[in-house]
Amino acid sequence: MKTAIYPGTFDPITNGHIDIIKRASCIFDSVIVAVVKNPSKETLFSYPERLSMVSGAIRGIKGVKTEGFDGLVVDFAKKKKAKVIVRGLRMISDFEYEFQMALTNRSLSSSIETIFLMPHPYYSYISSRLIKEAASLGANLKQFLPRKVLENLKKIQRRD
Ligand code: COA
Repeated sequence: MKTAIYPGTFDPITNGHIDIIKRASCIFDSVIVAVVKNPSKETLFSYPERLSMVSGAIRGIKGVKTEGFDGLVVDFAKKKKAKVIVRGLRMISDFEYEFQMALTNRSLSSSIETIFLMPHPYYSYISSRLIKEAASLGANLKQFLPRKVLENLKKIQRRD
């Protein structure tokens, strides 16, 4: 049974993340989308909101489930008996950060490999930060976000 972890902040999950999750699900028997509880960056959505949006968005994708985690991603991977961490590489600008993270994780645990998957080019330039900025300015982001995420972003706009 080959299990992979796909960790991230998912603030919020986008169709670009889902594209990576679907690709990973074709390679691994089981994929755990791991939502970090306390990320280093400030989030728009709370941990329960991020977790719930990810759970909703992956429903129906075979072999994929969501779990939250705190602490080191390599410790979470070990706990889940996963030998692989999946990350998405959208463009060359992601490379340096991802390279540092992969090598740091390898030095923390040499038995866990990071593999990179490329999303469809259609999603290669979107990020959660740009999505939040465009949503706050009233952009229609239907093509980039799951329905529930769109609804939640609209709710926040109405609250402000
Ligand atoms: N489609 C669209 N957007 C994507 C994407 C894709 N396929 N892949 C990444 N992104 C975007 C995200 O939306 C996010 O955008 P933002 O910065 O504008 O919000 C950005 O790329 C990176 O976010 P994400 O993939 O969620 O990663 P992250 O950098 O927020 O998460 C963790 C990093 C959680 C994996 C990392 O901090 C971690 O492992 N933390 C646990 C502690 C630990 O072990 N630390 C040591 C690790 S070296």
